[in-house]
Amino acid sequence: MQVSLPYALTAELTHRCPLRCPYCSNPTELQKRENELSTDEWLSVLEQACELGVVQVHFTGGEPLLRPDLELIVRRARDLGLFVNLITSGVGLTEERVRKLSDAGIDSIQLSLQAASAELADSIAGFKAHELKRQAARRIREAGLALNMNVVLHRGNLHQLEDIIELCASWGAQRLELANTQYYGWALRNVNELLPRSEQLKQAEADYVRASERFGQQLELIWILPDYYEDFPKPCMGGWGKLSLTVAPDGRVLPCTVSSEIRSLSFENVKQRELAWIWHDSPSFNAYRGYDWMAEPCRSCERREQDYGGCRCQAFLLTGDANAADPVCTLSPHRRVITDRIKSIEAGESRTPNYAYRGG
Ligand code: SF4
Ligand code: FES
Repeated sequence: MQVSLPYALTAELTHRCPLRCPYCSNPTELQKRENELSTDEWLSVLEQACELGVVQVHFTGGEPLLRPDLELIVRRARDLGLFVNLITSGVGLTEERVRKLSDAGIDSIQLSLQAASAELADSIAGFKAHELKRQAARRIREAGLALNMNVVLHRGNLHQLEDIIELCASWGAQRLELANTQYYGWALRNVNELLPRSEQLKQAEADYVRASERFGQQLELIWILPDYYEDFPKPCMGGWGKLSLTVAPDGRVLPCTVSSEIRSLSFENVKQRELAWIWHDSPSFNAYRGYDWMAEPCRSCERREQDYGGCRCQAFLLTGDANAADPVCTLSPHRRVITDRIKSIEAGESRTPNYAYRGG
């Protein structure tokens, strides 16, 4: 089978984080500091990724600013000619660190936000972070760096959507990703607290359209669909092992950030294997390439080349079988897992959420 080359690397430098968001996409079993790759190991990962064809790297976590060697790692990535993006909560982004990152050649910083009002944002993050984020946004802008922002949307903050967009515009963001929660890891654990009602989602979509008309000229808005409310799944990651790869804090190489949750697969580690071998030849990366692995209804479905049967992680987490069709699909025999969940949310009383905050 012809294997394409990856263009993007997600480098999870650490799982440690001061925030405790209940929708965190990190796995529920977080890696400890003592298991993290060393500076030299990360530099080797970058060199190997570059040789493999990667052209952009996203440094993320947890909170990557907790690594004191971040600037050194960023500098090496830039020296290798990679486009470098940092995904951060903004906590710890002092003036000195912004200057060092800028000196190291960073191309873009993506700052997360939890809500428009400080009170709500801090209660979602489980940490008083909102004011620190406002300061971080100002420092990024004053350093002349591109400010991108992202907000995970859910039942607890969708009502603030227009205010969120207005706030990000006022902080000087150029691009804002409005990501309706995807239910893996901590988010799946909190799904009953996070999943919005269809009525609320309809209202939010109308708010989004109105805000796009007001702010669309100055702020690029990206709306990531709430897939539980779709009829067909997304082509997750643009296909398994097709466009990108993730290196976890402990060196395991994953087709996507969530895939360590697929217990039926085991993943190779850069401490033992070359990245190129892992990409081209490892059983985990080859597990869901092409179409031969598919079961019905995907195997004979005319949409299989558009969505690749949806998300493998979601299939595993909701059905226990990573080869199954993504249950978001209305043709899936497991679609009831989704519809029952939506029905129970619709039938439930409105109440204050009782989040299981992420640990670590
Ligand atoms: Fe996609 Fe499979 Fe559903 Fe067809 S049956 S739309 S390939 S998930
Ligand atoms: Fe892993 Fe979709 S999140 S394949």
